[in-house]
Amino acid sequence: MSAPTLDALVSLCKRRGFVFPGSEIYGGLANTWDYGPLGIELKNRVQHEWWKRFVSQRRDMVGIESGILMNPKVWEASGHVSNFGDPLVDCKKCKQRFRGDKLLEEKIGVDGAAVLTLEQVQPMLLAEKIKCPSCGGLDWAIAKKFNLMFRTQQGVIEGEGADIYLRPETAQGMFVNFRNVQQSMRKRLPFGIAQTGTVFRNEITPGNFTFRTREFQQMEIEYFVAPGTEGPIFEQWKDDMWQWCLDIGLAPERLRIREHAKEELSHYSSRTIDIEYNYPWGWGELYGLANRSDFDLSQHQKFSGQEMTYTDPDDPTKKFLPYVIEPTFGLTRTVLAILLEAYQDEKLKEDDTRTVLHLKPIVAPYDLAILPLSKKEHLIAKAEELYKKIVQSSGLHVDFDVTGSIGKRYRRQDEIGTPKCITVDFGTLGEDTAQGEKDTVTIRDRDTLKQERMTIADLLKHLHPPTA
Ligand code: GAP
Repeated sequence: MSAPTLDALVSLCKRRGFVFPGSEIYGGLANTWDYGPLGIELKNRVQHEWWKRFVSQRRDMVGIESGILMNPKVWEASGHVSNFGDPLVDCKKCKQRFRGDKLLEEKIGVDGAAVLTLEQVQPMLLAEKIKCPSCGGLDWAIAKKFNLMFRTQQGVIEGEGADIYLRPETAQGMFVNFRNVQQSMRKRLPFGIAQTGTVFRNEITPGNFTFRTREFQQMEIEYFVAPGTEGPIFEQWKDDMWQWCLDIGLAPERLRIREHAKEELSHYSSRTIDIEYNYPWGWGELYGLANRSDFDLSQHQKFSGQEMTYTDPDDPTKKFLPYVIEPTFGLTRTVLAILLEAYQDEKLKEDDTRTVLHLKPIVAPYDLAILPLSKKEHLIAKAEELYKKIVQSSGLHVDFDVTGSIGKRYRRQDEIGTPKCITVDFGTLGEDTAQGEKDTVTIRDRDTLKQERMTIADLLKHLHPPTA
């Protein structure tokens, strides 16, 4: 299946209530997006599945929720104050600013651009004759590092509060709570802490819809291990992350693993791989997996003066700083990849096409839709009765749609990815045997378009929440 254009997806997302441009009635705010009623359902489902798989169903994992605002020393210790930046180049002609590495990616590849030092960026742009995307000039200034953290002030009086940062990753909330969690939960190595939440980065070139934004959500795990045991654990997480990608519906041919070169590694990492997805504009990062060694715990120990060590419960004389394997997942980026993967414009017959989201049932905003065939009151009453029975007995998320012809309503459900539609008609009421037997309904499958007639009793017996 071919990937859709980004424009087609953005249009569907707005039309069907997945994602709207942020602050739209005021002319928008560049590269901000709001999740609509169906977008939030999809996003919540991804997050819920992730939590279930990686936290609730594992004995070696626990979750936390730390604050977005943290003591600024956290970001000094973590290295974000001094190291967390992108190489920026100014066009001397039109004064526009760009990420030098991104400008170079098309010519020298993602791998090539990622390993450049700051000093190499401007000479490389000139050598490759890469022109300013804004004015077409070829007059680049020396590249500079630009810190991506959003700074704000804590306190009520402008100018008198302490400078603090909006967190750029959820990870540090887990590192600073390592001892609290380990001791309160009596955890033995290896074990992991997970958290999901909003983070902020003052990205200089946000774009490609929700792929790179300044406010986004992450789902992260810090997995603490005894030093020396990290090799196989890293490999296991690689496999687990890959399997997750398949289970949420991403096609293996649009996924690949990219090992970071030594020069490209973040300041905290001794090994990193990215799981990349083939977006409409090319391969790009979806998730990351890093060996952060004992970098973070030792930095926090140094900067806070507090002990961050782990004591071996079998031999209390053994105290050490655990190593950390970090699987990190962008939640909003996952939603984008899922939507891109699921979107299809399909030709059904010569003059009949449809747009459909082939979403995996575990992430679809609705499990089912109930469609009364007409707006006749007693038919709607029967459909409402079925609606109540289904939501109460199965816990499924069910849409109820009475507006428009049945054909149009099927197409709308296809566009929002509802796996099954249930039509309640005059046969169901026992008023028209040509439509079906009394107390039977028609179930239509989104992907095969097959329709089958079933008794309501059988339907209720077979309904259960989807599993991966
Ligand atoms: N704690 C490690 C960390 O934050 P990262 O690779 O900088 O690593 C993790 O970010 C994930 O967050 C990425 O794999 C990606 O899915 C997502 N992500 C990063 N920057 C993003 C942005 N500007 N917009 C949306 N998602 C982003």
